[in-house]
Amino acid sequence: MRSRTENKADWIAVGSLHDIPMLGSRIVRLPQMDIAIFRAEGDKLFAVEDRCPHKQGPLSQGIVHGAQVTCPLHNWVIELATGEAVAPDVGCVKTYDIRLSGSDLYIRIAVEGTGSKKAESVVA
Ligand code: FES
Repeated sequence: MRSRTENKADWIAVGSLHDIPMLGSRIVRLPQMDIAIFRAEGDKLFAVEDRCPHKQGPLSQGIVHGAQVTCPLHNWVIELATGEAVAPDVGCVKTYDIRLSGSDLYIRIAVEGTGSKKAESVVA
């Protein structure tokens, strides 16, 4: 039997692909953080924490180009696949696995116990 405080990774449903505009994003609000889900060119999907590694700007409000997003506050460019800032800037934002089943989106996050699987999503 698993302890309530044991951490594990789990897939959680976060909505439909059709709710995310092309070259746009959706915010998934979790109790512990907000995650931005990006729909880039070619329907490539990425999930990253919605906090720029520079000064915590909302990456979900940035401009998506290729597989990158430009932060709306000070224009750092972040690689969506790795979360790494593009040089000369240095920093990294956390990324998450994402998968598509039909049109349903799932992200893989660490959850504690059984009570934190609730997610609310908002189109950015
Ligand atoms: S907060 Fe993102 S570039 Fe400064």
